[in-house]
Amino acid sequence: MNDGVATLRIAARMAHIEPFEVMEIQTLAREVEAAGHDVIHLEIGEPDFRTPQPVVDAAKRALDEHRMYYTSALGLAPLREAIAGFYSTRYGITVPASRIIVTAGSSAALLLAFGVLLDEGDEVLLADPGYPCNRHFVRTLGAVPRGIPVGPESRYQLDAALARRHWGPKTRMAMVASPANPTGTLVTREETAALAALAREKGGTLLVDEIYHGLTYGVDAHTAAADGEDVWVVNSFSKYFQMTGWRLGWLVAPQALVRKVETLAQNLFISPSAVAQHAALACFEPATLAITEARRAELDQRRQYLVPALESLGLRVPVVPQGAFYIYADCSALSTDSFALARRILTEAHVAVTPGKDFGANQPERHIRIAYTQPVARLEQAVARIGKLIERGT
Ligand SMILES: Cc1ncc(COP(=O)(O)O)c(C=O)c1O
Repeated sequence: MNDGVATLRIAARMAHIEPFEVMEIQTLAREVEAAGHDVIHLEIGEPDFRTPQPVVDAAKRALDEHRMYYTSALGLAPLREAIAGFYSTRYGITVPASRIIVTAGSSAALLLAFGVLLDEGDEVLLADPGYPCNRHFVRTLGAVPRGIPVGPESRYQLDAALARRHWGPKTRMAMVASPANPTGTLVTREETAALAALAREKGGTLLVDEIYHGLTYGVDAHTAAADGEDVWVVNSFSKYFQMTGWRLGWLVAPQALVRKVETLAQNLFISPSAVAQHAALACFEPATLAITEARRAELDQRRQYLVPALESLGLRVPVVPQGAFYIYADCSALSTDSFALARRILTEAHVAVTPGKDFGANQPERHIRIAYTQPVARLEQAVARIGKLIERGT
C-alpha cells in the first residue's frame, strides 16, 4: 500500500541541519539509567540548581493575579525597564528599555537578529568550536555560516585579526560568544571593541552572545552593549538565573531597527511567555541575586576542582575556562575518536559527557566537553570512574 510516507518531501536545507549530539547522548544516558545504572550527567548545559525561589514565588503570584494573555511582542514594559536597570547597576552603562526586546530564550533572540540582518547567501563568521545552533539558525535562513578554526592561541575566540583575514565580499556579520560554549573563555574589552570597529569598517554587524554573563570566575565580563549602539547583544534568563525551561531571554538592538525586530517577532512568536516574564521580574531583586551569586561561587569551586582533576587523568585543558560551566578538554592522549570515547565513558563508567562533534569541524575528534553541573562530590565520583576506565585501557 502506498501511504505516501515513502515519498514525503522535505526542504533541501534539512540536509544541512545536524542533530544536536548532546541530546543524543542524553537519550543514550537515559537508556543506561533504565538498565539500572547510576549515571552522572555532565553532558547538558544546565546545572543542578532549581530556579531561585523568589522567581518561582513571583510566577505563582502572577498566575493568581494576572490573565495570561499575549504580551507585546517586545515584552512586558516593566521587564524591559528592569533589564535596562540591570545594565546600569551591573555594567554602569545606559541601555534604554526601548532597545531591549524580550524573547523566548536567547534562541529566539538569535533567530530574530539573524532574520532581520541576513539575506540568502550572506556569510556569518563564527568561531569553530562554537555553539552548534548558531550555524543551524544561519543555514535555516539560507545564509552561510563560516566556521573559523580557533584554538588556544586566541583563547578559542574569533578575534579581530582572524575576522579581518576571513572577511570576504559576502560576509555580513561576525559573531562571538563571551563566555563561550564549549570552551568557557571570554572576549576581552579590547577585542570586542576591535571586532565592533571591524564590522563598522566593513559595513557589517557584530553580534555578541552574552548568555553566560554573570557566570564568570575571577573576572568580570565586559558587555559589548558598551561598544556602540550598532552592536547586537543577546542574553538570557536561562543560565545565570537558572531558568532554562522557562524560555526567556532578550535582545539589545539598535533603536532604529527595533521596529523591524518587533515586526518579525510578532509574526514568528506573537509574544514571549507571559508567566515567565512575570516571574523574571523577580530576577533583579536582591534576594534572587544573593542566590545566583552564591551559586556562582559554588560553580567556581567545581571548576577549581575539576580542571586539575581532568588533567591528572590525561585530559588536557589548554585554556583554563573563566566562565560558563564547561571544560573543553583535549582527549587525544586517550583516544583520537572522541565520539567513541564519550560512548565508552557513558556505557562503561556511567558518566555522560559531550563529544566535540557538536561544536564544529575543527578537530572535534580530539575533544570532549564536560559540564560541571553537579556538586563536587559527584564530580569526584565521575573522575574516579573515568580514572578506573582509563586504568583498564581506553
Ligand atoms: C552559547 C549559547 N547561546 C545560546 C543558547 C540558547 O539558550 P536559551 O535559548 O536557553 O537562552 C545556549 C544554550 O545552551 C548557549 O550555550
